[in-house]
Amino acid sequence: MQQVSLGFLGCGNIGGGVYRLLEEMGGELARRDHLQVRVEKILVKNIEEALQINAAKGLNVPRELLTEKAEDVTSAPGISIVCEFMGGEQPAARFMEQALQNGKHVVTANKVALALNWDRLQRTAEEHHAGLWYEASVGGVIPVIRVLNRNLEADEIDRVFGIINGTTNYILTRMAKEGKDYEDVLKDAQRLGLAEPNPAADVEGMDAAYKLSILASLAFHGRVTYQQIYREGITGISAKDIAFGQEMGYTLKLLGIAKKQGSTVETRVHPTFLPKDHPLAGVDGSLNAIFIHGKYCRDMMLQGRGAGDMPTASAICGDIVEAALCTEPSYPTFDNTPEPSPEFQFTDNWMTRAYIRLSAVDAPGVLQKVSECFALESVSIASMMQKEAEGEERVPLIFITHPAHEQAIRRALERLDRNVCSLEQMIRVEG
Ligand SMILES: NC(=O)c1ccc[n+]([C@@H]2O[C@H](COP(=O)([O-])OP(=O)(O)OC[C@H]3O[C@@H](n4cnc5c(N)ncnc54)[C@H](OP(=O)(O)O)[C@@H]3O)[C@@H](O)[C@H]2O)c1
Repeated sequence: MQQVSLGFLGCGNIGGGVYRLLEEMGGELARRDHLQVRVEKILVKNIEEALQINAAKGLNVPRELLTEKAEDVTSAPGISIVCEFMGGEQPAARFMEQALQNGKHVVTANKVALALNWDRLQRTAEEHHAGLWYEASVGGVIPVIRVLNRNLEADEIDRVFGIINGTTNYILTRMAKEGKDYEDVLKDAQRLGLAEPNPAADVEGMDAAYKLSILASLAFHGRVTYQQIYREGITGISAKDIAFGQEMGYTLKLLGIAKKQGSTVETRVHPTFLPKDHPLAGVDGSLNAIFIHGKYCRDMMLQGRGAGDMPTASAICGDIVEAALCTEPSYPTFDNTPEPSPEFQFTDNWMTRAYIRLSAVDAPGVLQKVSECFALESVSIASMMQKEAEGEERVPLIFITHPAHEQAIRRALERLDRNVCSLEQMIRVEG
């Protein structure tokens, strides 16, 4: 029987979930893999508080396992795998680096620390012959990291896109189903613990952008940094736009999108309308799903719980078992630099369709003036919907364009005569 000792950095939702799963499944792991997994030390901020919180959660962690000193975990000779569950960039990244420098394998679910420090962490891991595992950093339990890193290693992936933030998917799903406004659903999500008290990282798209930087780097075998990702969140989305989109046959999702054609790469996170029959359109609530297209694999979609203590713990424990059983740690097959890979040309002029809502003066000739602005930039209109006046003699005009360059759409919108109409919303349409 192989014995492996773990050290945890942090014991909140996920740390507690992993502890619980190992307690419940320890016997099975011994039977299946001849592996005895033991948690030796757990870093917490305050031992007394941690004991109280664990007791309230029904988590039976003995006091002697707890420490307030990071080096009791990162430098302890008996610990071979350090599991980081603190979250945030620092000190999590620094502690992981220390553990790797001491030759310990590191398992993390922390997309922020990974996306911003991946090059250094990977280099340190390689130098010290240690492994770095991060399956749960994107998509919770969905095994997308392994699929991109291993299963599709021989393929040529040109598209990865999906729903990679459960909080925003939950909010958009409820807005669509209940016709409620963003602020109302957000408050409800916070009350239910499905959104953070400070929801910025989720609703402004940062969380999805960190994850997309990891996915795109693995898919395209080159470094796509967080800074290279265009980002828009869902804070400006109204129930009205979701309803108009539904009327026109679309469902709204916050998508992370990465595409590569030749050396040209586009990476973006923004609200996106998808046709109702698109496989991602039916992925509701806090579920995540990732769509991959490759030259040989063609289309595939992975779907599952992108968050939650036990689903995430399941993915993390998979990493722990792999780390424990591996004889040779493996690393992503690209030059993991702090800067974006020089062979990539990043573009902000991608092809897209757009949903455009204008508020226009209710007078003859307005539609023609608007159409001219689009025509001058070679943006053609696929469909149009006019709604009843909204008061003050203004009417909502809604257009869906044919595929056009992003910058051409923006230029067309700048051409609009503000005396005649105002731009109220522009949402990209995929699929
Ligand atoms: N929650 C999910 O569903 C989910 C899913 C996938 C990935 N993840 C990732 O998993 C990680 C952990 O998330 P979580 O939901 O478990 O967060 P959490 O509940 O806030 O747990 C983090 C724990 O780490 C502790 N901590 C923070 N800094 C520390 C320090 N310097 N020393 C000691 N303890 C420290 C926190 O203590 P205080 O509370 O006192 O600050 C807290 O107990 C994050 O990277 C997150 O992105 C989470």
